[in-house]
Formats: sequence, C-alpha cells, structure tokens
Amino acid sequence: MRKIYLVGFMGCGKSVVGRQLSYALRLPFYDMDKEIVRQQGMSIPEIFEKFGEEYFRNLETEFLKNFRDEACIIATGGGVAMRQENRQIMRRTGLIFFLDASFEDIYKRIKNDKNRPIAQRSTKKELERLYYYRRKFYKRAAHIRVFTKDRTIRQVVNYIA
Ligand code: S3P
Repeated sequence: MRKIYLVGFMGCGKSVVGRQLSYALRLPFYDMDKEIVRQQGMSIPEIFEKFGEEYFRNLETEFLKNFRDEACIIATGGGVAMRQENRQIMRRTGLIFFLDASFEDIYKRIKNDKNRPIAQRSTKKELERLYYYRRKFYKRAAHIRVFTKDRTIRQVVNYIA
C-alpha cells in the first residue's frame, strides 16, 4: 500500500493539488497541518508560540511515524522534507512529488497569511533565501519533480495522476 506525498515550499499548492488528486485517484486525502491542528486542538501559530518550532517539527515526525497503513495522498507541511528521518519514512512508504513553483508565485500567496508563522516573521528577502536553501532538500526527497509554473491545477493533477 503506497502513499503519495506532496512536498514543497509553503504556498506551492500541495493542499489544493492533493485534494483534487484525491478525487482523480479516488484515494483518501490528508493535509498534515490540518491533522496536527486537529490532534492538538490548537492552530499552527499557537503551537509555535506556546511550545516552539522544534516541538512542531517533532509533531510532524510523529505524524509520519504513526500514520495508518493505507494508500492515500498526504500534503506535507513545507518544513517536513528538511529532516532526514522524515525523508526516509516518506521514501519507505510512498512516492514523493515535489511541487516546484516560482518564488514570486509563492510569495504572492503567503505574504499576508497569518496562519503561517514563518511567513509572518520573515522579510521577503529571508523567505527567498529559505526558498532556495530548501529546494535542495525537496529535490533530494522527491522521486519526481513537477513544475507548476504556467500550469493549471488541473494540469498538475493530471500529470501526477
Ligand atoms: C511550514 C509550512 C507550513 C506549516 C508551518 C511551517 C514551513 O505548511 O507546516 O507553518 O516551515 O515551511 P505549508 O507548507 O502547508 O504552508
């Protein structure tokens, strides 16, 4: 039973692509951030504020470790592919797609999002630096890279399907 993991920077479209892909492939869909929020009964900014980022990162790893064994689609949070342990779990249990969007497209989507603490606390320059730093890890994690620039969500979904 293999899973499909979607990885990539905040705002690259993991959640929206994942949801539509789940209709196309008739597989259940899970949004990691939403699952963690549900389990903890707290928003992501609240978790960051109360317990710190490291705590949130540990929740992500716990989620991957303990997640049920079923074929499904999982939209990961933008930081998940940074940990080697997470990359190993995902590689062992599924197929990983990196949604590769341009920084400008991403920035437009995340700049005013109060639900993303990292976007909130960083300048544009810092986010751009983080974007280029993290790309290496998304590429390293993924089996397949999907360019999303100039592609509609439907085209991205069809490509993955
Ligand atoms: C994060 C991305 C967010 C969320 C948290 C941290 C990150 O998920 O997990 O705010 O470090 O890039 P999205 O990629 O769904 O925005």
